[in-house]
Amino acid sequence: MGAYEPTHCEVVSVEPSYEMIAKRKETMATNVQGFAEKLPFIDNYFDVAMAILTIHHWSDIPKGLAEMQRVAKRKVVLLTWVDDSPKFWLEDYFPKIREIDKRLFPTIKELNQILGRITVEIVEIPYDCTDGFMCAYWRRPYAYLCEDIRKAISAFARLTNVNEGLARLQSDLDSGKWHKKYGKLLGLESLDLGYRLVACDRRIA
Ligand SMILES: C[S@@+](CC[C@H](N)C(=O)[O-])C[C@H]1O[C@@H](n2cnc3c(N)ncnc32)[C@H](O)[C@@H]1O
Repeated sequence: MGAYEPTHCEVVSVEPSYEMIAKRKETMATNVQGFAEKLPFIDNYFDVAMAILTIHHWSDIPKGLAEMQRVAKRKVVLLTWVDDSPKFWLEDYFPKIREIDKRLFPTIKELNQILGRITVEIVEIPYDCTDGFMCAYWRRPYAYLCEDIRKAISAFARLTNVNEGLARLQSDLDSGKWHKKYGKLLGLESLDLGYRLVACDRRIA
């Protein structure tokens, strides 16, 4: 496939999965089918390259990040997750969840080695977050009982014994045990659950 050449000021998304592409609304940015590891764009074509909660799915993270640096003139920006946040209550019910994500997400040290000088900002997750990633429902515990919500969270697909954890969550919600232990969260507006905005300047001449 030849390199895609976007028009001025255009946002272009890259998505490998035809199933995901089929779900895109017409109002969304132009999409090009492809992989981060081999971006179908010419060097320095974009001002900024951005990857939102996706690098943990890539087959080769250093290659994908090098590709982002190749196509972006000014900045590479990532939203990712790091394993230095306090325990998320969902781990009570699915103890393997952190271990799974820890294996998939690079550490800040690794990102630093790959990207060079980076800045890292904490992204607190609002209580009514409209995206559906894993910790998005931290203040809406009943949401995790919903199969459609779990289906959009890739970590659940990697877990075994989901039903056992779900039954315990349901039981703790019914009995008030969850509220006794975690009810104080219901008064918070946002929470640090390990999501980080990582940016690196390209500064090319
Ligand atoms: C959790 S979704 C996030 C999607 C989008 N960034 C967003 O915030 O709505 C992760 C996406 O990464 C895509 N993905 C998986 N492997 C990829 C790869 N090698 N290159 C680019 N995208 C990939 C998946 O198909 C999926 O759509």
